[in-house]
Amino acid sequence: MGTDSITITDNRTGKSYEIPIMYGTFPKYGAAIRAADLREIKASEDDFGLMTYDPAFMNTASCRSAITHIDGDKGILRHRGYPIEQLAEQSNYLEVAYLVIHGELPTKAQYDEWVHNITFHTMVHENMKKLMDGFNHDAHPMSMLIGTMAALGTFYPTSKKIGDADVRKLEIYRLLGKAITLGAMTYRHTKGLPYVMPDNDLSYTGNFMNMLWRMAEPRYKPHPVLEKALDVLFILHADHEQNCSANAMRSVGSSHADPYSSVAAATAALYGPLHGGANEQVLRMLRTIGSKAKVPQFIQEVKERKALLMGFGHRVYKNYDPRARIIKRLADQVFELTGKNPLIEIASELERVALEDDFFLKRKLYPNVDFYSGIIYEAIGFPTDYFTVLFAIPRVSGWLAQWQELITDQEQKISRPRQIYTGVAIRDYLPMEKRGT
Ligand code: ACO
Repeated sequence: MGTDSITITDNRTGKSYEIPIMYGTFPKYGAAIRAADLREIKASEDDFGLMTYDPAFMNTASCRSAITHIDGDKGILRHRGYPIEQLAEQSNYLEVAYLVIHGELPTKAQYDEWVHNITFHTMVHENMKKLMDGFNHDAHPMSMLIGTMAALGTFYPTSKKIGDADVRKLEIYRLLGKAITLGAMTYRHTKGLPYVMPDNDLSYTGNFMNMLWRMAEPRYKPHPVLEKALDVLFILHADHEQNCSANAMRSVGSSHADPYSSVAAATAALYGPLHGGANEQVLRMLRTIGSKAKVPQFIQEVKERKALLMGFGHRVYKNYDPRARIIKRLADQVFELTGKNPLIEIASELERVALEDDFFLKRKLYPNVDFYSGIIYEAIGFPTDYFTVLFAIPRVSGWLAQWQELITDQEQKISRPRQIYTGVAIRDYLPMEKRGT
């Protein structure tokens, strides 16, 4: 048995360096060397030292984290050790939010206090309505959410004291509580409907539905099947370790910005079509394909690199995304109430054809969380450009968990990658008249 280190020989100098290997809970996914140790490897005394080059962080761990574990080969997702299947089946979104942020499932008393505090922070300042009204009727809901989320921080200047645990606790309540309110306001604004204020007797998702859909009735009653379905979808979107938006949250948070600014930045990262914006693109893709018969032709176009199969592929999963499996089952329950969304036929056919094709098998491309979620959202009645808001709202809990972990991690500093400079070394400034034509 060897030691837990590697020896690197620098062929430029003939010198050898022993570098320790560190591990996480699962050695298969957690073995790493500290990049800073490589700085000892120098070609000469005044050399800066060796760096690693890793565009898009394909093989770089940016933190040690105890929140979420993904086994991409086996298609496993666990929060704080609990399998996502058990959480989706037996828990509820606010309990999962507590779990990802605090690390443990709450006791009854902790849960009641948690739900109470989030529920009583759902109201937003009246000026938020004026801010929202500044957007055009056809503004994208994600752009409105990004803008108003950042603006919300201006109402809570003490949120800048990110080193104070009590301040962080309060801001976590506020951000979770107000995420549904802002999300619903973007929807009402698009529809030209008056904003609905929260009803604190309802559940988190029930309250969200109330703020989305209440019309003239004195009290809104959420349909229990849809309330439950939305809650499960919220659980499935709570956290997903160091993805693009979590990385944005940590990167902006590392400069000690207030958490509203960091959540706005994370929301912006989620908006992109390669990340959370994919659910919207999946629906547009399915509509463009139009029928089951056209699936083989579309798959051919993907293989010829003329299109991407949206909702397929993942940086970490090289197997079926477990969330996609749960969503597919959930779709049947929702369709019993709403009627079947005909796009499910095209999606299932796409999955069937793709998973029999070498192009996708060789690259280990499987459905991800976004492949089936949009079909449910559409059946429930959400407009296509609203889908990513339904991803962003529950992801606020994951972003806050990542942020809290970052702020309390003694090893973390401001996020600041290195670069390998490839430009001109030095030259003298040339006055314009001497630059030729
Ligand atoms: N359709 C067709 N080909 C694909 C797809 C896809 N959806 N995804 C990956 N590939 C191909 C790539 O072209 C590449 O092929 P090559 O090796 O012959 O060049 C290979 O599979 C590996 O793909 P990469 O792009 O290197 O994988 P990466 O980890 O960088 O990207 C990503 C992951 C962005 C998710 C990618 O799979 C993709 O664009 N998928 C579609 C968008 C999507 O569904 N995004 C949502 C992801 S889940 C989430 O963020 C919530």
